[in-house]
Amino acid sequence: MSTDSPAVEYLPEFTTVWSFPKRGNWATHKSDYRGNFAPQVPRNLIEMYSEEGDSILDPMVGAGTTLIEAKLLARHALGIDINPDAAKLTEEALKFAHHPPTKQKVMVGDAHDLSFLKDDSIDLIITHPPYMNIIKYSDGKIPSDISNISSLPKFCDEIEIVSKELFRVLKPDKYCAILIGDTRKGKHFVPLAFNVMQRFLKVGFVLKEDIIKVQHNCTTTGRWRTKALQDKFYLIMHEHLFVFRKPREGEDLSRVKFSLIPPMNSCTPY
Ligand SMILES: C[S@@+](CC[C@H](N)C(=O)[O-])C[C@H]1O[C@@H](n2cnc3c(N)ncnc32)[C@H](O)[C@@H]1O
Repeated sequence: MSTDSPAVEYLPEFTTVWSFPKRGNWATHKSDYRGNFAPQVPRNLIEMYSEEGDSILDPMVGAGTTLIEAKLLARHALGIDINPDAAKLTEEALKFAHHPPTKQKVMVGDAHDLSFLKDDSIDLIITHPPYMNIIKYSDGKIPSDISNISSLPKFCDEIEIVSKELFRVLKPDKYCAILIGDTRKGKHFVPLAFNVMQRFLKVGFVLKEDIIKVQHNCTTTGRWRTKALQDKFYLIMHEHLFVFRKPREGEDLSRVKFSLIPPMNSCTPY
């Protein structure tokens, strides 16, 4: 198995629209974990927002895309997932050698509670939460798995708990990137991503970027096309990659206050 870093398949992004019609398949990356990152996503973020030897956290690591990229780019990394099957997949995916050697660790855990991590200890957070219950990762068998949640306000409340922890463990002036998409209910658009963004702002982050990631290869596209035409809606083919920054202690935020979108304590009611 090749452990080489990408050559032709990868070029760094320089705009706020990212589109990867061909997902990277270098090293141990696979495409078979539902909803996993295209490796180009964490690679771009790691290169932009961290340095060699930094420590990266993915608190919902799935099959380990972030950790594979961390290893290839010589960053230390911790991956956490509530689902032991996901943690095993990540462990397997990390079985390759790379120089210079760095440490990547994966554990079963709950992103709501990172109390084993010190305040201000992480250089970069990259994660990709479930989009409510669009993909149910544990079929209701693991209670804290947020992919069991079908109510938007409840989902946002849980995400707020997670985002508080992420804010606490991230070093000041460092970045936290979240890939999140939207959904539809009753033939109408449910702006899950913007609701999630509000919760991150509420706990103290400021918004650095809103990158649109174009979606490709959606397995359901064909099936939904007819229904979409009938019911007059467009298929959602983009996700939001929000990059938040944790402000420095005492930082003057008067110039970034426009990031705060009221109302800060409610969700679009669906
Ligand atoms: C979209 S997947 C992540 C995919 C990952 N980015 C990858 O490339 O493989 C979301 C993950 O969140 C995990 N998850 C759900 N609730 C969680 C929680 N409370 N704590 C930690 N992980 C959780 C699920 O088990 C699932 O693996």
